[in-house]
This record gives sequence, C-alpha cells and structure tokens, in this order.
Amino acid sequence: MSQLPDLYCVMGNPVAHSRSPAIHARFAELTGQHLRYERRLIALDGFTQGVRDFTAEGGRGCNITVPFKFEAPGLATVCSERVQLSGAANVLSFQPDGSIHADNTDGLGLVADITRNAGVALAGRNVLLVGAGGAAAGVLGPLLMAGVRHITVANRTLAKAQALVQSHSHLATLQKTELIALIPQALEANFDVIINATASSLAGAEVPVPDHVLRPGSLAYDMMYGPAAQGFLDWARSHGAVPRDGLGMLVEQAAEAFVLWRGVRPPSAQVLAEMQQTV
Ligand code: ATR
Repeated sequence: MSQLPDLYCVMGNPVAHSRSPAIHARFAELTGQHLRYERRLIALDGFTQGVRDFTAEGGRGCNITVPFKFEAPGLATVCSERVQLSGAANVLSFQPDGSIHADNTDGLGLVADITRNAGVALAGRNVLLVGAGGAAAGVLGPLLMAGVRHITVANRTLAKAQALVQSHSHLATLQKTELIALIPQALEANFDVIINATASSLAGAEVPVPDHVLRPGSLAYDMMYGPAAQGFLDWARSHGAVPRDGLGMLVEQAAEAFVLWRGVRPPSAQVLAEMQQTV
C-alpha cells in the first residue's frame, strides 16, 4: 500500500451540503480501504478545469452533482450504457492509462433502496415517475431493467416527458414494459410506486400530481431528502401511502460508485441505518 491515501471527491455547485464525503469515509473505514474523499466547489463555467486540476493532483475518481451531470460525459473516454441512455453521469473514474470512464449509479441506487432497503418489489408493478429532467433521466433505464410492468412519466412540460419516453422506447420494448408520457392532469389511475423526481418541494410548490395517484399502501418516494422532501412525504402520508425519502438512494448510489472504484462492496444498509439515526 502506498503511503498516501488514494484521492476521491465530489464536484458540484453548491456542494457544501453534500453528505458524500461522510458516506465514503464510513465505507472506507468499514472495508479497510486507504482513501481520502473531499468536497470540491467548482465554478459554474469551470468543470473541465476542475477535473483537470483534480487528475493532476492524482485524483482517482469523483462523483458529480448538480449542475455538472450532463457535462461530465463530454470529458469521458468511455461512457457506460447507462450514461449513453440518460446523457448524464454521476461517477468518473480516472484510469492509470489516462482514460476517463463515466457511469451513472443514481438509478441503481434508487432501485436498490426500493427493493432491498424498503423491501418493495418493482418487478411487475405500475410505477409513476414524476418529472422529466436530469434526475428522472438518470433513473428511467434502471427502472426498466428492474422489470417494472408499466411506467408513466408525468411532467408539466409534456414534450420533455415524451422525449424521455422516446429515448428509452427501445429498452422498454426489450423489457416488455409499457412506457407512456402524460401531463399530470391526465393521470387517472393509482400506482403501486410513485417517484418524485422534480424539484417541486424545494421550490415550496404544490405536489405536482393529483391525490388519486396514491392508494393506501402505495410507496411514495421522493428522490430528495431532508427538508426538500418534506412537502411530498407529508402529502403521501396524509393519503395513506408509505413515504420514503432519497437518503437510501444517496447511500446506495455511493455504494455502487465505491464498487466501481475499489472493487469492494461496502455494507450500505448498515451505513444507511447509521445515517438515519443522525438526521
Ligand atoms: P433535475 O436535474 O433536478 O431533474 P431539471 O433538469 O431542471 O432538474 O428538472 C426539474 C424537473 O422538475 C422538471 O421535470 C420540471 O418540470 P418542467 O420540465 O416542466 O420544467 C420539474 N419541476 C420543477 N419545479 C416544478 C414545479 N413547481 N411543479 C412541477 N414540476 C416542477
């Protein structure tokens, strides 16, 4: 083992709130990996330079957060299928030969949190994905791969939902999943699982779908966590649904990145339980 720990970071703007350094530090501790993980605030027009500076310092990999996820694939030598499908990356790995590999572990994290941590099966279910921005794009492919029977993408700007459905139509056909786009006002049925991938709570806005999409026992998942998820979770609870925030997704996407970088799977359920105690 070299004397210096291997260097990783999360790049974003803003980034001060990121819990990734704490999660990766705990993963490293529990798996005996010798690494250091930092937070890097990157100027809005400085992503390429930020990555260059980090690799010049010997950085081995980084997580990418808002607003750089769509810029990240442009710097990569190799993009995983998930990145090609979503157009966004949240993990870069800097290889010894100088090449850069981009991947997107957000959707894997969401699916792992729903199926393993929350214990809710996705195969054969009806899922409502609310929103059609970067967050939704990052998770649609893995939801299709999880064997969901029917996915409705609902967004106030219909054209964006239609574009997302269009770019995933081939995979949906392969997976035998019905995939449709609607505006929220056109939603009629209720769903087994409702996933909020909009920033509506953050903006203090109304929940962006009608109440009848919920039924007692539906899983209502907000990809945000903390105060940003509260409005959606309160709404879900008041209609008899089972609310869940995105803390588990955050931990699980980090675990997938850790596997890519270190080849070792950290005990993510344990780390999630620890983090839930400290919120
Ligand atoms: P992100 O990368 O976080 O997904 P984004 O790409 O800007 O951010 O997408 C934000 C998503 O939240 C979009 O689906 C947006 O709807 P539009 O495509 O119609 O803009 C949705 N959104 C944001 N604020 C909203 C609100 N107050 N009500 C409903 N949807 C909202």
